[in-house]
Amino acid sequence: MFRLRRYRYYVFFAAIIVFLLFRVSQNSKEWEETITAKLPIPRAPSRKSVAPPPRIFTTQDGDLPQKILDNTGKGKTKYPPKKETTPEISEDPPVSSNDRVSDKISDKVNEDPAKPHLAVDEKKPALAYDHDEAATVKNIPSIKLPSKNNLEQDGQGAKDATLPKPTDPHWKKPEEHFPVPKDEIIPLPTGKPLKIPRVQYSFDKEFPKDKERREARQDLVRAEMKRSWDGYIKYARGHDELRPVTKTFRDPFCGWAATLVDSLDTLWIMGLKEEFEDALTEVAKIDFTTSKRTEIPVFETTIRYLGGLIAAYDVSGGEDGGHSILLDKAVELAEILMGVFDTPNRMPILYYNWNPATMSQPKRAPTTASVAELGSLAMEFTRLAQITKQNKYYDAVARITDAFYEWQERGTTISGIFPERIDASGCNTTAQRELEEAQRKSEEAQTKSEDDEANGSRDSNMKKRSPVEAVEVNSERHSKALKMEATDPALPECVSQGLTPLAWGPEQYGMGGSQDSTYEYFPKQWLLLGGLEPKYEELHRQVSQAVKKWLLYRPMVPDDSDILFSAKIGTRGEPEHDANIQYEVTHLTCFLGGMFGLGGRIFDIPADVEVGKKLSQGCVWAYSSTESGIMPEFAHLLACEDADYCHWNETRYNIELDPSYDKREEELEAWYDRKEKLKAHKKELLEIKKKEQEAALLRKESQEDRESSRVDNDNAQDPVKGFSQIRKRAPTYKDEDEDTGHRASDSVRSSSKQVPLVKDEEDGEDLEHDPTRPISHANFIKKKIAESHLPPGYVTVESKSYILRPEAIESVWYMYRITGDEEWQEKGWKMFKAITKHTATEVGNSAIDNVLIAEPRKNDEMESFWQAETLKYFYLLYSEPDVINLDEWVLNTEAHPFKRPTTYFGA
Ligand SMILES: *[C@@H]1O[C@H](CO)[C@@H](O)[C@H](O)[C@H]1NC(C)=O
Ligand SMILES: *[C@@H]1O[C@H](CO)[C@@H](O)[C@H](O)[C@H]1NC(C)=O
Ligand SMILES: *[C@@H]1O[C@H](CO)[C@@H](O)[C@H](O)[C@H]1NC(C)=O
Repeated sequence: MFRLRRYRYYVFFAAIIVFLLFRVSQNSKEWEETITAKLPIPRAPSRKSVAPPPRIFTTQDGDLPQKILDNTGKGKTKYPPKKETTPEISEDPPVSSNDRVSDKISDKVNEDPAKPHLAVDEKKPALAYDHDEAATVKNIPSIKLPSKNNLEQDGQGAKDATLPKPTDPHWKKPEEHFPVPKDEIIPLPTGKPLKIPRVQYSFDKEFPKDKERREARQDLVRAEMKRSWDGYIKYARGHDELRPVTKTFRDPFCGWAATLVDSLDTLWIMGLKEEFEDALTEVAKIDFTTSKRTEIPVFETTIRYLGGLIAAYDVSGGEDGGHSILLDKAVELAEILMGVFDTPNRMPILYYNWNPATMSQPKRAPTTASVAELGSLAMEFTRLAQITKQNKYYDAVARITDAFYEWQERGTTISGIFPERIDASGCNTTAQRELEEAQRKSEEAQTKSEDDEANGSRDSNMKKRSPVEAVEVNSERHSKALKMEATDPALPECVSQGLTPLAWGPEQYGMGGSQDSTYEYFPKQWLLLGGLEPKYEELHRQVSQAVKKWLLYRPMVPDDSDILFSAKIGTRGEPEHDANIQYEVTHLTCFLGGMFGLGGRIFDIPADVEVGKKLSQGCVWAYSSTESGIMPEFAHLLACEDADYCHWNETRYNIELDPSYDKREEELEAWYDRKEKLKAHKKELLEIKKKEQEAALLRKESQEDRESSRVDNDNAQDPVKGFSQIRKRAPTYKDEDEDTGHRASDSVRSSSKQVPLVKDEEDGEDLEHDPTRPISHANFIKKKIAESHLPPGYVTVESKSYILRPEAIESVWYMYRITGDEEWQEKGWKMFKAITKHTATEVGNSAIDNVLIAEPRKNDEMESFWQAETLKYFYLLYSEPDVINLDEWVLNTEAHPFKRPTTYFGA
């Protein structure tokens, strides 16, 4: 008994400690960092993985897809709102005032890349170091900026202000703790690429008039790029981003000139060759071995920088193009990033503390990772492996794919897709606890047996099984999931396992931020490998089926458009019974149309191409739905009850906007009742008064007869008795049509007009504007829509901003290239006009705060994907179809085109 109780306490405290550790690991992403982080620099959350703000979930049964409806009734769990994952905005980290390198020196540095860190101390403006990328969704964080005057004095401003000092730490190639044995390196598949079905439509020759219009549009897109680029070069050259309103800059991506690297291939494709060559001189100056940031955001760095360099190399002619600096820089960066895979299970660390002191410590992959960050490194490292013929780059990402593949086969809660947050550490904490428990028990048994022995009576079997043996026996059973074992004594015990969901909370499944590009990469990676690795096709087919079965929904919208969006599902393990479905609309998810289109083509699934069209059309609809003509970042719609037969139902929509509508109606009814009673009471009193007056009149009229004809006044009605007899009159408004409030008060007024003779004081009473009158359902709706600028059909708009994102035009472009339907060019043009109208500044384009109004405010932010992706997709929509032909190229999630293999390949 006693022992059992003690055991309970033990478990209880263990649970608390594990929970606290979990919180720490959540905050620090890698368990290592808490100890080692030195500078108070926060990590920028990944762009694609910025989770939209959470929403308290309420679903009507009727909204569930049929699949789930069949099994409902079991009571849907209402999850508490997810914790805000808003990144912390830190104070300005200490920045030394001496870390500016003169242009002259950095040019010299260029000539001798071996000694890049000579620096001259110069006065420099106190630089703000702004990492908060996710703040883009909100307002501008209040940070100090270098004075504008400083910048304008020399045109290029404090150009090299964030360059490192010679004393700054630099990354050095580390000794690997968990190297992959040479003979176990997974090689690139070799062979002749498969014959892959054609992606692009066979375009006819266009009419001269069409060509003229198309090229005119293309020129306008190029002009937009030119203005943004010139602004960046003038005010932010060498920095990550231009601040397009204040004409300054910021460095959220390690300060390695993110916009510049991200834009290279766009410049080339648009024929801005001079700008391209100029940018290359800046590329040569980038030093990836050091940064003001203590951590490298691995996903962002891979898709923007590594992807940008590789694609620029590919589009500019590869080996024959004569721009070897691009490949050199890509390799330099990749070598640094390879350090993130040095974990026992070879799953990557996602925020890489590159500082040599930290790097020397062994680490595990994070216990909390987003699917997108883990799975979206594949294309960049694979393409680099192909170009350099180095299998190690492919090995690094192939192991991640294998882990996803193994997990898909092992089974996830929603079969085929993965939960948004996953444990990549490779350690099974459940098994770990079991082991510890076994160990403790065996220790106790040993103590007992020793005691027993002391007493002289013992069979000594018990003590033979030492705790150490127990551990070994158990871990052997669990350790086959992945080959690499936790051999480093500096790491705590680990019972191996594959990827798993987090141990706590509901699992979330969706296609939006934090998940998107992992799914996007399955078919694209298959293409990049010439179809020679069948795992990617299988992964994609399963994903496609799961999305169609669980996530896609047709929204109920006023014009009955036949469109699709992808929802998000929360489940605690039994989605058939406990699914919480959020009918969301997010800009990030708009890539999905393109993915279904592309996958549908290359795997010959025509139905998926149709799904792709409806998804793409959904985002086009979302653009057209707002006052500004631009889609909001994150919102919710209502799902159709039946996707095949769906009509706009105002009543249902209004109820959704005003869930407490019935209470509202009751209150209003009760209010009218009270008013009625009050009025009736007053009326009674009036009646009495009237009668008295009449009586007085009579008395006056028969004044002469006063003496002879007496009136008996004793029968005057008792007012209280009269009141109780008044019949309750229910307000009539309820029986009438939608527009209830007015009619109700009208009818009340008209009834009060029937009081004759004596002037009724209530006649002029304005019930509708009576401040005590509760608001009616209809008026509540009107007020809510007017105040929040809610576009038709929307239930909520959680984030009204637009941060120059590309996903919608991306899918429109895929649709155009796949179907050849020029309608997509028209749709795209409307989007382009709306976007440029609201975002253009003198020197670039800015994120805006509210797409629901006609005049949004500019947020002074221009993410590098504006030039890397958004403008590129617009430009390609109006290019000849053989520019970045999808049958020759495959684009990464940052719109960087990689060359698809055409001949036998392999390293
Ligand atoms: C973790 O360990 C538990 C208990 O031994 C086991 O049931 C479970 O399957 C393991 N999980 C994985 C993903 O291997
Ligand atoms: C020895 O055994 C007796 C009963 O057999 C028990 O009461 C006593 O507590 C034991 N002694 C020890 C030291 O465990
Ligand atoms: C409209 O919605 C309301 C509330 O959900 C429902 O009672 C009504 O039947 C619907 N009307 C039609 C025509 O479906």
